[in-house]
Amino acid sequence: MKEEVLSVLKSNPGVYISGQSLSDKLSVSRTAIWKYINALKEEGYEIESASKKGYRLVASPDLLTSDEVIPFLNTKCIGRNYFHFDTLESTNTKAKELASKPGLDGAVVVSEEQTTGKGRLGRNWVSPKHRGVWMSVILKPDIEPSSVPKIVHIAAAAVILAMQELGINASVKWPNDIILNGKKVCGILTEMSGEINHIDYVVVGIGINANLALEDIPPEITEKASSLYVETGSAVDRKCLAAKVLNHFETLYLDFLETGTIDASLRICRDNSILLGRDIRIIARSKERRARAVDLSIDGELIVQFEDGRIEPISSGEVSVRGLNGYI
Ligand code: BTN
Repeated sequence: MKEEVLSVLKSNPGVYISGQSLSDKLSVSRTAIWKYINALKEEGYEIESASKKGYRLVASPDLLTSDEVIPFLNTKCIGRNYFHFDTLESTNTKAKELASKPGLDGAVVVSEEQTTGKGRLGRNWVSPKHRGVWMSVILKPDIEPSSVPKIVHIAAAAVILAMQELGINASVKWPNDIILNGKKVCGILTEMSGEINHIDYVVVGIGINANLALEDIPPEITEKASSLYVETGSAVDRKCLAAKVLNHFETLYLDFLETGTIDASLRICRDNSILLGRDIRIIARSKERRARAVDLSIDGELIVQFEDGRIEPISSGEVSVRGLNGYI
């Protein structure tokens, strides 16, 4: 019911709505309305009350609650089950716990902070409160387990398109890093559970360093990691960014399920790739090889040409890719 009170206030921006009309509209007492208004104020909504006029929403908090994000969603499935937390160890871990429950295909887990956010290759992911978009999508696709790595390209493309809509031209560092001004501002961690020929679930974790200040980023990683705020000088609207990523993710993911290809996502990843055409180092089990990144294959592998002319596809697995003189 609190959500309904909020929705009436939101659909009448700047306008006073009387307690009586809220109570008539929602068929609850005026005392109940008063209680819901107080609960909303406690959550951070700025609501003005004036006698004889009623209530008026002045400002909404910078939170990724369902009340704040769902109005921006235009999806059928992704985010229609939405779990919001103030704090979690990791949204991927919570998503994996939830994933065994039925009916949660497309569910999204979001947290305002992560105390032990997880990065790729066992690294940790710094996730301070109210500063980023830390979210995980639960998927139960009927596809071959070997096709799961393709989903990272769908997520990367969705992040690129969402950022572009906010005027931010970031690049993809194959396969799962999003780069702005040469620094990583977003990472994607895909995890799955299943058997050789059956997927129980896939969890796609997306971490966007949206509004971290320089002080929020540990000094030992400031050379290669940054935030949209640090790089552009402006804070981004986290709820809008989160919803845009989910909207694009659904479009590209449904296209994948329908066509069996990730062509649409790969086009976006190719067009915005920071690696293609560059000389790179490929690091696997502490061995390093030099090559030129030439293309992405239809399955999303990185096609590289080695110094001896050999051309090979590299799959993401446990490989790290770096520029010749640094991170990119
Ligand atoms: C990487 O680039 O190393 C991947 C980083 C992925 C971070 C996100 S934040 C939301 C989700 N929950 C986690 O614990 N990790 C992912």
